[in-house]
Amino acid sequence: MVELNASELLKADKAYLIHPLYHPQDHGEPLIFVKGEGAILTDVKGRQFIDGLSGLWNVNVGHGRQELARAAEEQMRTLAYCSSYAGSSNVPAIQLAARLRELSYPSLNTVFLTSGGGEANESAFKTARFYWKAKGKPDKVKIIARQLAYHGVTLATMSATGIPAYWKMFEPRVPGFLHIPSPYPYRFEGTKEGESIGAAAARALEETILREGPETVAAFIAEPVQGAGGVIVPPDDYFPRIREICSKYDILFIADEVITGFGRTGRWFALMRWGVEPDILSFAKGITSGYLPLGGIMVSDIIREMILSVPYEDRWMHAYTYSGHPTCCAVALKNLEILEKEGLVGRAEQMGKRLLQGLQTLYELPGVGDVRGLGLMAAVELVADRGTKRPFDPALKVGRRVRREAQERGLFTRFIRDVLILAPPLVVTEEQVDRIVEILRESIQVGVPGRG
Ligand SMILES: Cc1ncc(COP(=O)(O)O)c(C=O)c1O
Repeated sequence: MVELNASELLKADKAYLIHPLYHPQDHGEPLIFVKGEGAILTDVKGRQFIDGLSGLWNVNVGHGRQELARAAEEQMRTLAYCSSYAGSSNVPAIQLAARLRELSYPSLNTVFLTSGGGEANESAFKTARFYWKAKGKPDKVKIIARQLAYHGVTLATMSATGIPAYWKMFEPRVPGFLHIPSPYPYRFEGTKEGESIGAAAARALEETILREGPETVAAFIAEPVQGAGGVIVPPDDYFPRIREICSKYDILFIADEVITGFGRTGRWFALMRWGVEPDILSFAKGITSGYLPLGGIMVSDIIREMILSVPYEDRWMHAYTYSGHPTCCAVALKNLEILEKEGLVGRAEQMGKRLLQGLQTLYELPGVGDVRGLGLMAAVELVADRGTKRPFDPALKVGRRVRREAQERGLFTRFIRDVLILAPPLVVTEEQVDRIVEILRESIQVGVPGRG
């Protein structure tokens, strides 16, 4: 193959590739990355950037880990792939399932593996429906999700995703998906006298279950910290109350820990902070730190018993070619070993505190409405008016402008609406954390119009 230079690569990229969430307007001058080391990415022109989003919230152990490359190579040389359909299995998949049991919630001991997060949530929805059918309640099929949720973009997971921009050009959505408000402390409306935001947001779930009829609802799905919706950290009383409501009405609780799993929030899994256990856990991203595609679900012992005990003609007819992919599982095992050996979960908590404290100093800048975060997930929400929390006119494209300024200063990240998102690798250094804050300060000063 002919080697292309930087400008030829740019031209070929534009000519031959469709990218995720694509519009050519967003892809005028794409960065073409060629190398990663720790929290630093290098592009084809030799420019270096702090990776402010860990790839796509997934490169938890940082870039350039030779031991992960070696784990993949060794497994590929031995047995790159085999089927995991009923009647066959492989060693890394078995070892990974055993390790996940140890790391996750006590009542979740059984794993089904997929290639990513969307497939994981699809598997969770189908498993919830399966469970209720097997239990003789075939009408329990609806899934309640939340506004601003992101659960993937397959047709069903898109329908669970609570961001209408993802639906617009692909409607109609799959029927039976409902959305309730998020526990979004900065913007939540609808608390009653003396009621906390956490309790009010959880009340929306109870009211929706009662309105729809508990006999029609299969599951409630939630990200412990909403990621793509803008790093929305719930109040501490929210998830304990959600768990109570799900148990009271016999609704399965699916925790979508695709971003929050594997240390991102300073715990192995985020709901552990609040002492809450889900019935189904979806995971992906950080399980391999993005070195190879892998995701999956873990199910409660009660669901497992149901899968094991149904008659043959009612069996769990769900599958992927790459379920239990030996090479992906071998890399996941090595990645989990690194997370543990290097104490990266605790480091996410520590570095997250430093990042949040740094970002809070940005409140002195006009246009900074809210700063929030948990572990190494953080966000800065920009507003036109701090008093009323009025957003900027979308035509001003403030988020995009600030992001571009940040990029010019060596920070690669993403904005959603006018929310700047930060989730650096768990190996990010103190100096890099401080530099991220410094770059954002300058970028907001230059990129935010007027005086808010
Ligand atoms: C919380 C959450 N769930 C699910 C997904 C979908 O994962 P994938 O893109 O691997 O299908 C994502 C992706 O960003 C996510 O953030």
